[in-house]
Parts: sequence; C-alpha cells; structure tokens
Amino acid sequence: MKNLTIAIDGPAASGKSTTAKILAQKLGLTPVDTGAMYRAITLKVLRLGIDPGDEEKVVEVAKETEIWQKCVDGVLKTYMDGEDVSEAIRSPEVSEKVSIVARYPGVRKVLVKLQRKLAEKGGVVVEGRDIGTFVLPDADFKVFMKASLEERVKRRVKEMKEKGIEVSPQKVREELQMRDRIDSSRSFAPLKPADDAYVLDTTELTIDQQVQKIMDELKRRFGDDP
Ligand code: CDP
Repeated sequence: MKNLTIAIDGPAASGKSTTAKILAQKLGLTPVDTGAMYRAITLKVLRLGIDPGDEEKVVEVAKETEIWQKCVDGVLKTYMDGEDVSEAIRSPEVSEKVSIVARYPGVRKVLVKLQRKLAEKGGVVVEGRDIGTFVLPDADFKVFMKASLEERVKRRVKEMKEKGIEVSPQKVREELQMRDRIDSSRSFAPLKPADDAYVLDTTELTIDQQVQKIMDELKRRFGDDP
C-alpha cells in the first residue's frame, strides 16, 4: 500500500495541517496543502488591488497564476509564479478574504485540476475542505477533523503568537466563524464530512494523540504496513 491516498478535511484550525505533515513523514507520503493554494490566489488578488468580490477578475487571476508546492527539508513550501509565498499567505489580510475567493467555481476548477494531478499517482496526504467529497472521492482513507470553536481560537492565537503576530482572540473567533459559515454554505463543493470519513474530534486531544488515533485506524484498515 505504498501509494496510499489520504484525504484530510475539516474546518479552520482543526489540526489538519499539523496532522497531515506528521502523517506524511511517518508514512513516507507527500503532503499537499490545498488551503495554501486558495491563499496564494487570494494573496495575488490583494497585491494586484483587485476587489475579492469581483468574481470575473478573480477567476482570471486564478487562470493566469502558476501555483506549485514542494517539500524543502521537511517543510512544505508554496510557490506562486515562482515566488516562495509560504509566509505571506498566512497574513491576517489573506485569512480574512480567502473564503470569498474560494467560493468561486471558476477558481475551484483551476485548483481542483492541479490537486487531482498532484494526487494522480497516489502516495499523498491531501488536506483541505472538499478533498474526500469532491477532489478525491476515491481516496483510500478519509479523515474529517473537527474541534470546538473555543479550542480552535486558542490554537490559532497561539500559532500566530509563535510567528510574532499579535491577534485578538475576539477577531480570530469572528474570522473563523465567518470562514466556517462561507465554507460550509457555498453551493460548489462545500465543507462537509464524506459519508465514509473517519470523523475525529480533536478538542481534547494533543497532536500526538490525534496522530496516534489516525495511525491506529489506518492499521485497523490496512494492516501493519500501510
Ligand atoms: O489553515 P486554515 O485551517 O486556516 O485554512 P486553510 O486550510 O489554509 O484554508 C484557507 C481557506 O481556503 C478555507 O477557509 C477555505 O475557504 C479555502 N479552502 C477551500 O475552499 N477548499 C479547500 N480544499 C481548501 C481550502
């Protein structure tokens, strides 16, 4: 089972990225962060001074942008038109607008095509919102991670603090709530668990515990050598 395809979905700050990274390392798979792709398009839109509400222009930008990801020394980097934007796409400005950009079917079509191409040979851990339901409905193993809003706010504030960015918990709460609402209610490929997903509530779990739960489930389904 060396070419396993794993899909990890869930709302913002539910623990997907960290889990995907550790799982990929443990299993020798390649991580793919689809949220980073939507963030990269959003960054370009903002830099060009385009209104994120202008669907036509935003879709144009998505079609003309080259996005790529590569693991460098165990760290997943995202490139936009050749520039390493891994840090820039995490800014509060991008976080605030990304769900508006990700709502447009034209943007999603461009990025889903890239995501399917990256996953076509298997051997990947792909994380996002619609991976198990829409991008890779035939994935070998689907995980849907969730956590309470309060816990997700705490995690995001801590994560930003570690990067030297001070954010108010109240603002973070509003942003997460807004993104959850837009992501879950959009008509094209909304955020929801796939019928066959392994649903994991990480509210009370440490990172080690959540990774262990997924490893146990993998072992149960695929035996000792997934
Ligand atoms: O890291 P965080 O959990 O804050 O979010 P992310 O995974 O970087 O995704 C940022 C945003 O991109 C999400 O809030 C969604 O609006 C959008 N997204 C999406 O629509 N579909 C995906 N497969 C991945 C992300």
